[in-house]
Amino acid sequence: MENVRPADMQRIRTTELAEEFIEQAVAECRKQIGDKKVLLALSGGVDSSVVAKLLIKAIGKQLVCIHVNHGLMRKGESDQVIEVFKENLGSNLIYVDATERFLTKLEGVSDPEQKRKIIGSEFIDVFAEEASKLNGISYLAQGTIYPDITESKGIKSHHNVGGLPKELNFTLVEPIRLLYKDEVRMVGRALGLPEEMVSRQPFPGPGLGVRCVGAITRDRLAAVRESDAILREEFAKAGLQGKVWQYFTIIPDFKSTGIKDGARSFEWPVVIRAVNTRDAVTATIEEIDWAVLAKITDRITHEVPGVNRVLYDLTPKPTGTIEWE
Ligand code: XMP
Repeated sequence: MENVRPADMQRIRTTELAEEFIEQAVAECRKQIGDKKVLLALSGGVDSSVVAKLLIKAIGKQLVCIHVNHGLMRKGESDQVIEVFKENLGSNLIYVDATERFLTKLEGVSDPEQKRKIIGSEFIDVFAEEASKLNGISYLAQGTIYPDITESKGIKSHHNVGGLPKELNFTLVEPIRLLYKDEVRMVGRALGLPEEMVSRQPFPGPGLGVRCVGAITRDRLAAVRESDAILREEFAKAGLQGKVWQYFTIIPDFKSTGIKDGARSFEWPVVIRAVNTRDAVTATIEEIDWAVLAKITDRITHEVPGVNRVLYDLTPKPTGTIEWE
């Protein structure tokens, strides 16, 4: 398979070009795959969702998707994957709720790199176990995109949980390997995927695991998930969705004194981070309207159990990284 973008390949900026790409990609996939079966790890991210939809178009039920819920997804994310791919498209989707398995393995682990390693290797184990239950799979599809190839020594390679098990030993199908991210989104729209999925902000493989600072506990994990959902909802209402590159909440592992319902409280803070960047190598801080921040603070402190304070992270990258771990 060609891994270099041809010099004359047009940047896909119109629906027409996206449709042209889809037609070609579908034909190529059919030619490569024939009547064989293909396996895909479907995270619900833009890249794997676009690959899934393309392959459903090309080979229908010959595609088997596995969605592993590691328990560190954002609120409603796994449900959306099931709704879009299983209920609406009727695809072959295996849903694995591995929450207990991941959280048990992560219990008491506070070192960020160790947490990433556990999440990454557990993910591969769960995926490989599910794959071994299937018969007659010949290909493994992946949502590799062009920057993954050209920047393979950059951010993604050291971060990514992705990169699936070599021991599975399948031939790869990588239909969007020559596309840039904005092109993948154009293609996703032309394929009719929901806008929410297509314009989804980046979300790290280890998920909320790296936003629940230190050793992950179920109560703090629930608090970071709830506060993230509130933040996303309020950003959408304020028209900031799609304007700010990445925004999320973090929960540290310390408590502070506060006052709730006239009584002393001793609870966690939640930190809001909203950044803009081109390439994630450096990032600047979004200047959020004060009233929006006040509304979010009010909602989080009143609606999220165990939280009595909200902070806004003013640190650009460098010196801060985008994630806290
Ligand atoms: P940092 O924190 O290094 O993040 O400034 C840069 C971008 O990468 C994302 N990120 C990750 N993505 N697995 C991923 O797939 C990871 O382990 C990971 N850590 C950070 C981060 O969300 C940001 O967009």
